[in-house]
Amino acid sequence: MVYYFSGTGNSRYAAHMLGELLGEEVRSIPATGPCAERLAEGKDKTVGFVFPVYAWGVPPIVMDFIKRLPEVLTSAIRSRKVPVWCVATCGDETGLAVKMFRNGLRKRGLELSASYSLIMPNVYVLLPGFGTDPKDVEEKKLKNATERLRRIAAEISRKDWEHDILVGSLAWLKTALVYPLFRKWGVNTKRWHTTDACVGCGRCSAACPVGNIAMEGGRPRWGKDCTSCCGCFHVCPTGAVQYGHVTENAGRYYLQKGIEL
Ligand SMILES: Cc1cc2nc3c(=O)[nH]c(=O)nc-3n(C[C@H](O)[C@H](O)[C@H](O)COP(=O)(O)O)c2cc1C
Ligand code: SF4
Ligand code: SF4
Repeated sequence: MVYYFSGTGNSRYAAHMLGELLGEEVRSIPATGPCAERLAEGKDKTVGFVFPVYAWGVPPIVMDFIKRLPEVLTSAIRSRKVPVWCVATCGDETGLAVKMFRNGLRKRGLELSASYSLIMPNVYVLLPGFGTDPKDVEEKKLKNATERLRRIAAEISRKDWEHDILVGSLAWLKTALVYPLFRKWGVNTKRWHTTDACVGCGRCSAACPVGNIAMEGGRPRWGKDCTSCCGCFHVCPTGAVQYGHVTENAGRYYLQKGIEL
């Protein structure tokens, strides 16, 4: 089984590719709950988690998911000795995100057999100074990520367990200081709005992984449950979604592979 969370498609792409190469079922964390039945029937060879790095940490929605894994599932993973692995997708570096994830799993009595970082195109645009990669960098990252995913799948298949993480500089400082600030102040939902370029297509609403955007009178309306994934900004085909003024000149990137909106 491969569980994933994704706002702009990178982690979804990685999860689906790994699922296909490993012959595992793939499930979206917000869309579907944990599944104990397949594991109990011996259908899951491994249990994997794929998620983006947020502020050198793990998206709160993913931490909540492992916190709430049912006991019947965690005890079956332990008793059947099913290996657990994770892939953290990031624009540059993970900080101590994987350590945070590992500690969360340990609290549920589970150990990570293998963990990997996977550099993919950058999507964070909500603060000045951050933005997407130039197109040539984006293409190179996608090519390298695809090759790395094949290697990761081969290693997992061989049970060749390893921890291969690009932590980056000052990792402790970034994760310990910035991540808590992100959790508290990461997004001001009142800043999301559309310009006159909105054509009412509803793609922002369909793409929001947590169902935070309702279409009302042919226009999107943002609720209060935003995870700051930036998906609605990047997916809009007319560039109508903005976050205050900070995104006015930001580039857009959305990896559509594997879904229909
Ligand atoms: C809120 C937010 C915070 C992010 N923080 C980091 C970070 O600390 N380090 C990093 O390398 N990339 C960071 N990124 C970039 C994403 O981790 C990266 O683009 C990821 O592959 C996006 O995955 P997704 O398309 O599955 O949502 C951040 C992106 C978002 C939306
Ligand atoms: S995706 Fe863009 S154009 Fe479509 S409804 Fe949302 S804001 Fe409007
Ligand atoms: S509303 Fe928030 S959670 Fe939903 S797509 Fe936009 S940024 Fe992501």
